[in-house]
Amino acid sequence: MTSFFNLSKKTAIVTGAGSGIGQAIAKRFASAGAHVAVWELNADAAAQTLQQIENAAQSGDNNLGGSAEVMAVNVADAGAVEAAYAELQQRRGKVDVMVNNAGIASVGTVEETTPEEMDRVYKVNIAGVANGLRAAAPRMAAQGGGVILNLASIASLIGIKDRFAYSASKGAVLTMTYSVAIDYAKKGVRCNCMCPARIHTPFVDGFINDNYSDKKEEMFRLLSEYQPIGRMGKPEEVAALAHFLCSDDAKFITGSAYPIDGGICSMPGF
Ligand SMILES: NC(=O)c1ccc[n+]([C@@H]2O[C@H](COP(=O)([O-])OP(=O)(O)OC[C@H]3O[C@@H](n4cnc5c(N)ncnc54)[C@H](O)[C@@H]3O)[C@@H](O)[C@H]2O)c1
Repeated sequence: MTSFFNLSKKTAIVTGAGSGIGQAIAKRFASAGAHVAVWELNADAAAQTLQQIENAAQSGDNNLGGSAEVMAVNVADAGAVEAAYAELQQRRGKVDVMVNNAGIASVGTVEETTPEEMDRVYKVNIAGVANGLRAAAPRMAAQGGGVILNLASIASLIGIKDRFAYSASKGAVLTMTYSVAIDYAKKGVRCNCMCPARIHTPFVDGFINDNYSDKKEEMFRLLSEYQPIGRMGKPEEVAALAHFLCSDDAKFITGSAYPIDGGICSMPGF
């Protein structure tokens, strides 16, 4: 890792960092020198991320002093988020970066989406992000600055078939990003979001298994060909963008939504 976008001496929270995009971001941030708090529901998954970061540090891949710890936090629980953030901040002195990444999938049109399913998605994808924002933004302002990055989706920007509840939730992530960005622009807190198209993670494998078990290969091919580039993205590619946006090199960037989408948003008729 070069010293570009150095995160040495920074403390970063990455929610949902036990898997997929969050895990790739946690590993990337640690390799750039950050201390990463892995916030997870799934203890085994969190332990694997921690192990991978520690292995990289021991092998010399991570020579900027990066490190990690696991905190068992359910982002849907406002009290737990508040308590964990306050405890980490007290112990580390400050938290510089918060990535609100934890999210869940939901498949179905409006008529197939029950009120219970709307609530389930709301609790993690909207309230979970709001809880992180509420904990981070005022504390970052009080300490003189910080960076928040939210995981939105191309579903925040364009229509995606069969994703009613998920699209509603990711639209909210986009507009919560704008809201926090403007309220804290003069207080040193930057807030942006990334809008990935299909990224090949356990999240994608899980919903193919759960919803299309009779035609998994066909679904995988269709989901890959959806992007004009002809494949799904990789978690590491999203982590590279996250790294730049959360570094001081991006200090003029706030209130922005970044598609990372193999071209789909700008080439809808491809
Ligand atoms: N993979 C994609 O194609 C894609 C595309 C666009 C946006 N996204 C978004 O990126 C984010 C990460 O997606 P991924 O594909 O890496 O998912 P993933 O399922 O691989 O990982 C999500 C992680 O979040 C954790 N998590 C779930 N609910 C939680 C909670 N309440 N509290 C704490 N942790 C919780 C899970 O245990 C899991 O480890 C999500 O917000 C998702 O909506 C993903």
